[in-house]
Amino acid sequence: MRLDRKKEHIENYLKSDYKGETLFEDIYIENNALPEVNLDEIDTSMKFLGKNISFPLMINAITGGGEELADINEDLARLAKIFNIPMAVGSQTVAIEREECKSSFEIVRDIIGKDNIVIGNISANAPIENFLEASKMIDADAMQVHLNVAQELFMEEGDKHFRGIKKNISKFLEVYDKPIIVKEVGFGISKKVACELKGIGVKYIDVAGAGGTNFIEIEDIRNFSSDYSDLYEWGIPTAKALIECRGISDDLFIVSSGGIKTAQDIVKSLVVGGNLTAISGEILLYLMHGGFDAAKDYVESLIRKTKILMVLLGKKNIKELTTVEYKITGYLKELINP
Ligand code: FNR
Repeated sequence: MRLDRKKEHIENYLKSDYKGETLFEDIYIENNALPEVNLDEIDTSMKFLGKNISFPLMINAITGGGEELADINEDLARLAKIFNIPMAVGSQTVAIEREECKSSFEIVRDIIGKDNIVIGNISANAPIENFLEASKMIDADAMQVHLNVAQELFMEEGDKHFRGIKKNISKFLEVYDKPIIVKEVGFGISKKVACELKGIGVKYIDVAGAGGTNFIEIEDIRNFSSDYSDLYEWGIPTAKALIECRGISDDLFIVSSGGIKTAQDIVKSLVVGGNLTAISGEILLYLMHGGFDAAKDYVESLIRKTKILMVLLGKKNIKELTTVEYKITGYLKELINP
């Protein structure tokens, strides 16, 4: 059942066509006609989880399970390896329930090796033994735990019990000696929820806002008898979630994700306070429609265009991007809470 669902998520993601709004277009950054930096001086590398990565982008959680899903993970891991960027695997519960699914996750670490970053993934509601087993399965550098209330509610067979999740995350934090990244799956982490998470000791948050992959639509397509199209716009636009979560504290490590597609999305994310960016849907789209080379060209073009934008902003490394002045305009300005 769970394995079928994982295949259907990919198939239905590819069928989905609702265009959400990240609101990154409401962030204005300005051309610098006197940049005092050469293109070949641009350095996009940074440190993450104690390792060097070459570009501030993570391949975010997507999948794992049977043979076809192993092929997808293999390709994603090859991409992560080539570009020296981190990769998070999809939810590992399927492999905890079914021994034969383990290899589709283990293969990611095998390909990526010890020097690069692999992050595990499990529900924030999972039993602690499963959480620890998931981490061990891939020798994870960190664990992602996902909050996916909206997805579960719109999934016919989904869990409808949401009490006690915060307490469960506290238990993970108590026993785990590596970083835990709490993430949404495309509906966004609000300022209030980020404060609650920080209050229990969470140091890494992936806002996974609205504007990209839409699990209300994906579940709606899976279920022939439902029509939830009037609710597809639900969720916190990624730019709002990011700016407000950053407003809480400079100490939180914040991943900007949810609808990241372009180099401008990446640069704006870093300018307004994201420490790292992450993409699931758009990379998957290139991979499934164009194959490995198309996905590779896509990531390559993101890196090339990001470097060009950094010259146009007069900033030679990732740290300097945080000093770019920006203006928030339009609907985003209206939405942002001070
Ligand atoms: C996902 N996502 C996801 N997240 C997670 O924490 N565990 C998972 O198993 C999955 N599975 C999954 C399958 C598919 C097909 C997609 C497209 C996405 C959510 C993902 O990690 C991310 O948070 C959202 O997709 C929003 O980012 P994008 O896709 O808009 O870049």
